[in-house]
Amino acid sequence: MAVAVVVAYAAAVRLAVVSAGWDYSFLDAGNRLRRRKGCTPLVKRMDFTEAYSDMCSTVGLAAREGNVKVLRKLLKKGRSVDVADNRGWMPIHEAAYHNSVECLQMLIHADSSENYIKTKTFEGFCALHLAASQGHWKIVQILLEAGADPNATTLEETTPLFLAVENGQIDVLRLLLQYGANVNGSHSMCGWNALHQATFQENAEIIKLLLKKGANKECQDDFGITPLFVAAQYGKLESLSILISSGSVMKKTDVMKSIVNISFKAQLPCANVNCQALDKATPLFIAAQEGHTECVELLLSSGADPDLYCNEDNWQLPIHAAAQMGHTKILDLLIPLTNRACDTGPNKVSPVYSAVFGGHEECLETLLRCGYSPDAQMCLIFGFSTPMCMAFQKELTVGPIALILKLTSSESCEFFGIVNILLKYGAQLNELHLAYCLKYEKFSVFRYFLKKCCPLTPWSHISEFINHAIKAQTKYKEWLPSLLLAGFDPLSLLCSSWIDSVSDDILIFTLEFTNWRNLPPAVEKMLSARASNSSRALQKHIASIPSLTHLCRLEIRSSLKPEQLQSDSFICQLPLPRSLHDYLLYAEVLRMNEVPELAVIQDGKISEAT
Ligand SMILES: *[C@@H]1O[C@H](CO)[C@@H](O)[C@H](O)[C@H]1NC(C)=O
Ligand SMILES: *[C@@H]1O[C@H](CO)[C@@H](O)[C@H](O)[C@H]1NC(C)=O
Ligand SMILES: *[C@@H]1O[C@H](CO)[C@@H](O)[C@H](O)[C@H]1NC(C)=O
Ligand SMILES: *[C@@H]1O[C@H](CO)[C@@H](O)[C@H](O)[C@H]1NC(C)=O
Repeated sequence: MAVAVVVAYAAAVRLAVVSAGWDYSFLDAGNRLRRRKGCTPLVKRMDFTEAYSDMCSTVGLAAREGNVKVLRKLLKKGRSVDVADNRGWMPIHEAAYHNSVECLQMLIHADSSENYIKTKTFEGFCALHLAASQGHWKIVQILLEAGADPNATTLEETTPLFLAVENGQIDVLRLLLQYGANVNGSHSMCGWNALHQATFQENAEIIKLLLKKGANKECQDDFGITPLFVAAQYGKLESLSILISSGSVMKKTDVMKSIVNISFKAQLPCANVNCQALDKATPLFIAAQEGHTECVELLLSSGADPDLYCNEDNWQLPIHAAAQMGHTKILDLLIPLTNRACDTGPNKVSPVYSAVFGGHEECLETLLRCGYSPDAQMCLIFGFSTPMCMAFQKELTVGPIALILKLTSSESCEFFGIVNILLKYGAQLNELHLAYCLKYEKFSVFRYFLKKCCPLTPWSHISEFINHAIKAQTKYKEWLPSLLLAGFDPLSLLCSSWIDSVSDDILIFTLEFTNWRNLPPAVEKMLSARASNSSRALQKHIASIPSLTHLCRLEIRSSLKPEQLQSDSFICQLPLPRSLHDYLLYAEVLRMNEVPELAVIQDGKISEAT
């Protein structure tokens, strides 16, 4: 229970962080756009709770209560019918909203001007809007007959038709259409119209009626979003199948058979399943992102194109959305249908990155099992050279939040899980990965990578490695001995930044893996400059003559192959006395430097223990 709560909380926080506009550069801009707040269809527009009764005229009160007797008396006395209350409501609005049919007729009769029927509240509502929203069929009919405008709009550009749809009033909707209401109008501020709304609410009858009356299936709101996109985004399968309504697909389930009436389908061409919003997202993309598996199935079988790029940079596909959001079933559907160009193609981004970014082990494994490369391509757009690098960097972005929530251990588990899966499927290790281990102080992983034969030469990112190595120098006992014992050439470390930055101890330790009296002149020069300004110990060491045993050890080790040095057991298995094993493994040097015995990590078992 507690765990579930914590997990849910973490998820909520992550979402909150995204919407707070943090720069999670890997999250597509479209994500943010589509998770918009401004135009949610459920915003309540009318707030009738704030009517002050003392502001309402006696005529208005009578109309509200449907009190015909009182109203008749008041009208006889010549009371005015157009006194507005604090919201701009006149008696006609009260009668319309509260379904007072007789009162309404009396009011209309009392004020013969055509304008009275069209008067608006401060929010721009006519009596017709109010009656339509409440589903008062008779009132709507009276108003329309008396000349109310079915296309009137409120301040928020809402029509009576939209309100009828929003409130599921199909009879009122029919009536409005009969009186010529515009079925195609833009019915709210952000261009979201009646068909969007009916689709969102999954009101099948209303959708069908709107379509039958010629509603435009391809209408777009201000984000370029069509009703079909809305159905895909919110997982409204029934709406989606009505909008698609193409004959060849509907054999999936009985539910679908009953949803889509064959004769109904025949009348209508299908809505475009490959429409794109302004940010280029497709319905298939959004359904994959939101995890609506059945919608994805329906879209795919209806001709949705899984290879249509959904962002400006032309790499993001539905498969990326599924992998990033952890929707494994959808991933299973998309993998066989998606063009493999995204796998290792240049200028693309492999969905393997998306799975790593989302931290979804199952999705990652699914992709790799299906043959996606664990090394992918360089992903320069986001500054990652491999998915493995991203696994480290993701720790950084999640880190601060994890810390606040004390979730460090679970987030770390996720990291190790991802690393293990990448290795299991043969990810190539390189020096950048070692550098990241140092950067993020993952020393057990560092040693594990060495055992997994991370190449120790040639290195094209040596300076990046040394930068992180210098920063990790205080903990050098956890990684430097393993690196040098694995056969890394100490001369690669002996550059000016290393020589000038590390402590005397570390420098002496490094020199133990060289013949320090026979170094290249440039190195020797840097060392003596450093020594002239350092402790006696360093000066003494550099001045001393290496012993014969030291030189022999260097010689023997230089005759071993790199993989033999990198193996944790090769030397121990040589047919030699134990003391010679210890000698070849620098046991006395390690002891002298108080290097602790470091746990050997078993394959596939790296965990947090460092
Ligand atoms: C409502 O708008 C539609 C579309 O613009 C138009 O065809 C119709 O005549 C209008 N109805 C009325 C009653 O003005
Ligand atoms: C609504 O718009 C569509 C597409 O523009 C058009 O084909 C249709 O005739 C319009 N319907 C009405 C009732 O105006
Ligand atoms: C399909 O629609 C037609 C006309 O809209 C209707 O007459 C028929 O009964 C419907 N069939 C089913 C199975 O719902
Ligand atoms: C010697 O050390 C001092 C202080 O530790 C430093 O300011 C100086 O630059 C060093 N000189 C050399 C040649 O490294």
